[in-house]
Amino acid sequence: MPTENDPLDPEPGQAVYTPGILAVYNTAVLRISQPLAWGCPSRRILDLYDRHVSANHLDIGIGTGYFLNRCTYPVERPELTLLDMNPNSLRVAAGRLRRYSPATKQGNVLEPVDLPEESFGSVGMNCLMHCLPGEFTDKAAVFENVKPLMKPGAWLFGSTVLGALPDQNLLGKAILHSYNRKGIWSNYTDDLDGLNKALSQHFDVFDVTMVGKSALFRAQR
Ligand SMILES: C[S@@+](CC[C@H](N)C(=O)[O-])C[C@H]1O[C@@H](n2cnc3c(N)ncnc32)[C@H](O)[C@@H]1O
Repeated sequence: MPTENDPLDPEPGQAVYTPGILAVYNTAVLRISQPLAWGCPSRRILDLYDRHVSANHLDIGIGTGYFLNRCTYPVERPELTLLDMNPNSLRVAAGRLRRYSPATKQGNVLEPVDLPEESFGSVGMNCLMHCLPGEFTDKAAVFENVKPLMKPGAWLFGSTVLGALPDQNLLGKAILHSYNRKGIWSNYTDDLDGLNKALSQHFDVFDVTMVGKSALFRAQR
């Protein structure tokens, strides 16, 4: 059970997503900081969704539902399941995606997830890993918890900002400092080697593509 000031407490990484923050999230994060601070336009992440999303998709750390709202599905009526610790994120995203009647589940992905095993053809987790507490050795629990939910051959994919990379620009440095100080992000020590090791512990097939300071990763069960 996490205690106050516990470095592995997941609360600060999700509690920030109030209705007010979610109302400005797409503009502030996806249209401004994603390209300007991290050098990774949201279009690159949408490409990742377009290439890997399936007819039966689980999305973890859903935020506003921006990518699931814009991506191209292989079928007209995909089955979507949204998992998030934060009820505001679930409400906002489910509202935006209501044309797909998504299922929602509130839960912490650092713990085993109570969803049917081998039931998802794809799993997205975009901009989630940098919100999770600890280091990649701790965050690897996510891959352990999600892998059993994936059908054989399913892809898991997403991006995460690597805070340990050199040459962050001024905006990037300001965001990293502010968010890590408040516990909204815990990614000061996140680097490519750590992400590769965490993926390799659970998947034989995976790759990571760097776009600016964002690592775009995918792994196949
Ligand atoms: C930065 S937002 C990402 C939103 C969206 N995926 C995107 O790319 O725009 C992070 C989301 O992850 C959720 N989250 C943070 N920690 C979590 C955890 N331990 N388990 C499940 N969801 C979590 C937050 O509530 C929030 O909705």
